[in-house]
Amino acid sequence: MIEKDFAPSDYIHDIVEGKVCYKSPSNIALIKYWGKKENQLPQNPSISFTLDACTTTTEVAFEKLEKKSNDFSFDLWFEGEPKEDFKPKIKIFLTRIEPYLPFLKNYYFKIETKNSFPHSSGIASSASGMSALALCFMDLEQQLSSNMTNEYFNKKASFLARLGSGSACRSIEGDIVQWGQHNATEGSSDLYGIKYPYKVHENFKRYYDTILLVDKGQKQVSSTIGHNLMHHHPFAEERFKQAHENLDKLQSIFASGDLKEFIKIVESEALTLHAMMMTSMPYFILMKPNTLEIINKIWKFREISKTHVCFTLDAGANVHVLYPENEKEEVFQFIKDELIVYCENQQYICDRIGFGAKKL
Ligand code: PMV
Repeated sequence: MIEKDFAPSDYIHDIVEGKVCYKSPSNIALIKYWGKKENQLPQNPSISFTLDACTTTTEVAFEKLEKKSNDFSFDLWFEGEPKEDFKPKIKIFLTRIEPYLPFLKNYYFKIETKNSFPHSSGIASSASGMSALALCFMDLEQQLSSNMTNEYFNKKASFLARLGSGSACRSIEGDIVQWGQHNATEGSSDLYGIKYPYKVHENFKRYYDTILLVDKGQKQVSSTIGHNLMHHHPFAEERFKQAHENLDKLQSIFASGDLKEFIKIVESEALTLHAMMMTSMPYFILMKPNTLEIINKIWKFREISKTHVCFTLDAGANVHVLYPENEKEEVFQFIKDELIVYCENQQYICDRIGFGAKKL
């Protein structure tokens, strides 16, 4: 599908008021998106596990206005309180999606949102937050339209979520989602995420992710600034090429179930993301000493235990510890015994692969 396929056809129903509610998950990238072009289009393809426990639940109550207003009319509540400082971000999102949802200025919206994970845990809520909101608006569009296939609904929800936050387009469906044009993946697109369409070995069906909260503070670099650092980055072109190659390799790994090779790709991608930040201008180190302590402990334990535990990182200091289901007792014991001490206030979140957003 191309961009103009997301322009709406005429609406045939008149909906005066109502309420919709969606719960949408976060996701953890195995192959990282870092660097974007105009309109939130990625410089390279990425792929992620959809998570299960880290979610945002968003309810949108809507009321049709007497006449279309000149500006967006909405209020935003976060965890039971009005939240003025989130409004500018939502307004930017609404401005970006309005060409595809022309009804937005016909309504007043009360948006109420909450996260399952602790506020200021250092876990980015943009993927779950933007995807939940995109789904609520898509639901209203579906109510206004004649008929809409499930496939179109999900694609357009992903397309809209992308305009809020790139990685949010990978949070509509589960359990593995790919975003970005990739020659060896039929149906892949820069415009939206797709459910990974090829064979996935049993080894990857029930993966676990324990998120170690090393640093719960505000992100040192916003992802917008981070993505922009890839413009004129001396290693950018090589990095974008590498992501394509890693995705080629990951396809065979997903099919064969080769956990050793999986670990190599996933850890290398995490370190490459951080290497890009360390080698940009200005440069940043987003890991903390405890991030490195954890990585070293994981490597040592993996060697001794012969398990397949590995790590990945977002653009921050927290560590995602990934492991397959059949090793979960042994690895979780190791996490409790040896890694939790490196977390701020000993805080961590147990998560696993999930199956995508849900209407509530
Ligand atoms: O969706 P954004 O713009 O916040 O970018 C997220 C980028 C990473 O989380 C670092 C990588 C990824 O692919 O999710």
